[in-house]
Amino acid sequence: MDIVIKNEHDIEKMRVAGRLASEVLDFIGPHVVAGITTEELDRLCHDYMVNVQGTIPAPLNYAPPGYTPYPKSICTSVNHQICHGVPGPKKLKNGDIINIDITVIKDGYHGDTSRMFIVGEGSLAARRLCEITFEAMWIGIEQVRPGATLGDVGAAIQKFAEGFGYSVVREFCGHGIGTKFHEEPQVLHYGKPGTGVRLQEGMIFTIEPMLNAGRREIKEMPDGWTIVTKDHSLSAQWEHTVLVTADGYEILTQSAGTPANPRLKTQAA
Ligand code: MF3
Ligand code: CO
Ligand code: CO
Repeated sequence: MDIVIKNEHDIEKMRVAGRLASEVLDFIGPHVVAGITTEELDRLCHDYMVNVQGTIPAPLNYAPPGYTPYPKSICTSVNHQICHGVPGPKKLKNGDIINIDITVIKDGYHGDTSRMFIVGEGSLAARRLCEITFEAMWIGIEQVRPGATLGDVGAAIQKFAEGFGYSVVREFCGHGIGTKFHEEPQVLHYGKPGTGVRLQEGMIFTIEPMLNAGRREIKEMPDGWTIVTKDHSLSAQWEHTVLVTADGYEILTQSAGTPANPRLKTQAA
């Protein structure tokens, strides 16, 4: 039960898998409109992965201990759904927020990434939650370098999120990733600076904070997968797969449509 340190061969494969996962999000973005169902989004992504990319949708039939096999190829978590939302026949409507989480397997390696999409305008509260969650992910990513700890990552995310009055979901976390979907270590999105696993060059893991507008408590739906906020408040999540490099980090889940780090916005001349 150890953290796998990736070599140059693994890293090159992970760059490819990561880019492909991100390209599925680029592809599906324009389809996220009022009136489409989440199972139609699932079908579109499934066919794109299998027929266009030649990738395997990792969620399909994924069955960790204690779970029934996941029945779809992507996760679609709408409004008060936190994560692992199972696509179904319900139509999206204006103002909905939706997390689409894509994990592909290419040549045996996994790429895992998710983004928020807003259907139509979205309320001010919904837009703010999505933006702050995006920034929280980036603040976590910016902690990543050899010698830093996973506690530094979690603490930075928690401090930032709670400063806006949002709560951080505790039951689900980021994870090591490589030839397996979920590897060690667990990457908590809360914690104390200087604690936990010390980062080393060659580690690859996801950072995927889930922030609730209300309380942090969760509830599992009868489908055995979909996780919702107990108080029905809105929830948002973003995810990247990240490599620890000699002097910092490299985002592996990047493609033409990846939204930029909002904290690195170049200043106007
Ligand atoms: N993609 C999710 C993650 O970020 C895991 C989804 S498991 C599934 O870890 F079975 F629901 F797809
Ligand atoms: Co994911
Ligand atoms: Co993940």
